[in-house]
Amino acid sequence: MSGLKLLGTGSGVPSEILTNDDLAKLVDTSDEWITTRTGISSRRRCAPGETHTQLCLTAARQALDRAGLNPEQIGVCVVATLTPDRLTPAAACVLQKELGLGEDTVCFDLNAACSGFVYALYTAQCLLAAAPRKYGLVLGAEVLSRVTDYTDRGTCVLFGDGAGAAVVEWREDYPSIHAVLGCRGNTESLLIPGVAVGVPSYIHMDGQPVFRFAVEVVPQCITQVLDKAGISLDDVDRFVFHQANQRIIDMVVKKLKLPVEKCTGNIARRGNTSAASVPLLLDELVRGGSLRSGQRALCVGFGGGLTWAGALLELA
Ligand code: COA
Repeated sequence: MSGLKLLGTGSGVPSEILTNDDLAKLVDTSDEWITTRTGISSRRRCAPGETHTQLCLTAARQALDRAGLNPEQIGVCVVATLTPDRLTPAAACVLQKELGLGEDTVCFDLNAACSGFVYALYTAQCLLAAAPRKYGLVLGAEVLSRVTDYTDRGTCVLFGDGAGAAVVEWREDYPSIHAVLGCRGNTESLLIPGVAVGVPSYIHMDGQPVFRFAVEVVPQCITQVLDKAGISLDDVDRFVFHQANQRIIDMVVKKLKLPVEKCTGNIARRGNTSAASVPLLLDELVRGGSLRSGQRALCVGFGGGLTWAGALLELA
């Protein structure tokens, strides 16, 4: 057995709070509609001048500090994102310079949309097994406001900005994260066209198929992770769901008969921050004392791709 433990977490959260009432001034919607259909009351948004890099740096410095590590000790740095400041250099390369990571640190970005952080954790586990330094810095970070169309009420009410970071350690005698990753190459239900179109590139989403997809794959993914680990639902201390829609989480909780107190989230204050959502919640749980040393969190992401990813992560 070999694998990862979580040593420290951090968050980078933009200053601007965008409430449902603020959005009701931009599109034909209401606080009542958004709250009942999604569970979201407000989300954070980068103010002009606030950057993806700043959010990443804040989150990464906190995580390193709480892990008690120096930047030179990091062997692998992976940033899960689909909204970096630049297409190249990667956000992870910018962190290499700004944090002072070693020049031989493996630094790159990864795009698996809202599953990105868990994909990045698995990637870090694999790479750290071979790396000379056994500490990894894994982030999920998004400035989704850059790709959000604030005239489309079907999407703009959902998304927010933020960054979450985790410092992990790989050891021979640590448990595997037993990751389960999947992808269903779907280019219709959820997409951001990107540079190909040459015009502002916004999120396009067909909400209902994505909703049905999530309710189908998340329980399957959880069951597969538990099977791989050889443990039961009762052995999990916390379920850290991607915060996409409270109704999706409620349906998963009901389907698997999960204890609600192990499934609390932050969607009401954060909205859907794609790859940042799982590490932002993980950080809140660790800092709030809801995930303690020796306890296990089952993290699950799902979204664009369409992708899904689940993994177990124990707090050292
Ligand atoms: N305010 C008010 N009305 C809205 C609205 C808004 N913000 N957004 C959509 N509506 C309207 C629609 O126009 C539609 O009106 P109509 O019946 O007159 O045509 C009605 O509400 C129902 O729309 P529908 O799309 O069926 O709503 P829904 O219950 O499916 O909720 C989502 C929409 C987007 C909240 C929901 O589908 C969802 O959360 N899907 C998953 C999205 C997701 O998680 N994506 C990210 C994955 S990582």
